[in-house]
Amino acid sequence: MKALITAGGKGTRLRPITHTNNKHLIPIANKPMIHYAIEAVVEAGIKEIGIVINPDTGNEIKEALGNGEKWDISLTYIIQENPIGLAHVVKVSESFIKDDSFVFYLGDNVIVGGIKRFLEEFRNSNNNCQLVLSKVKDPQRFGVPEIKKGKIIKVEEKPKAPKSNFAVTGIYFYDSHIFEAVNNIKPGWRGELEISDAHQYLIDKEYRVGYSEITGWWKDTGKPEDLIEANRLVLEQIINHKESIIQGKVDNHSEIIGKVIIEKEAKILNSNILGPVIIGKNTIVENSYIGPFTAIYYDCQILNSEIEYSIIMEKSKIIDIETRIERSILGKSIEIVKGNSRPKTQRFILGDQSNIKL
Ligand code: G1P
Repeated sequence: MKALITAGGKGTRLRPITHTNNKHLIPIANKPMIHYAIEAVVEAGIKEIGIVINPDTGNEIKEALGNGEKWDISLTYIIQENPIGLAHVVKVSESFIKDDSFVFYLGDNVIVGGIKRFLEEFRNSNNNCQLVLSKVKDPQRFGVPEIKKGKIIKVEEKPKAPKSNFAVTGIYFYDSHIFEAVNNIKPGWRGELEISDAHQYLIDKEYRVGYSEITGWWKDTGKPEDLIEANRLVLEQIINHKESIIQGKVDNHSEIIGKVIIEKEAKILNSNILGPVIIGKNTIVENSYIGPFTAIYYDCQILNSEIEYSIIMEKSKIIDIETRIERSILGKSIEIVKGNSRPKTQRFILGDQSNIKL
């Protein structure tokens, strides 16, 4: 059994963060998003993983993940020259997968609870393909199955009139029949080789397409608010399962309530932290309040400010901001600083598609 994890795509709905960052490296609870996919696969016992990258942003992924030594696995990088659909991702990976069965895992899907159960359900069935479904409020954003008498009879991509309230999540189990499907389908209305069309092909050819249901939490982190939510859920999970871990320094004038992770060389000075919160290595929080569901990555400075329910990426500075910052995502090396010079104006140097709400 192998695994194929996607790490390409353009992440257009996450701009401006994705102008300079590959979406899959955005930290969720201070860990690059794609680590969760890799760790879920490794935990299920898979050691040979193909990572599918774009030619333009692939190097960043390679540098961040290396050869897999960190997890005692082997990572093989597969280049998808053009981003023309998930079925195309599978197609370009045929020479890596060969005759094996595999899990295809979209690197921007975050789930709580791992994939072991689904893998076992696939193994114990004689299905050629096993889809993992999750109930959602907005199925028209996803691939949607139509289920009759416990069988999937149809899968449609982003249907206007969904036939169920399930999304087909980005975790799929296949045997090698999927290659027959991806080599035979034609591009859909998005101009892409749609994975849903590959599933429909399997159904039409009477291959066995089964499903498992995620009863826990699953998120396709397509939009900024999904990232903030994923960060909340993951923080809740980590922190529910562990005691607080304080490796950095917390001075006597600070108060910590609830579970927190304060990484090495971080300093909390005269501040209030209300968990669940994670503060990264070498970050300084001084005269400030950090509220629930906040992840502050490494080398940041938070001075005389208040932040809650947010993701702050590395090397950012928030200094002397009077209004509490909430539901926000700050990219790398962002500075939000109160200016003291006159005239009293607001000055912005913002990248394309920045989003400010004052
Ligand atoms: C893709 C698939 C869709 C699936 C979703 C899960 O959508 O095409 O069937 O439900 O991933 O994350 P996309 O992210 O390309 O819109």
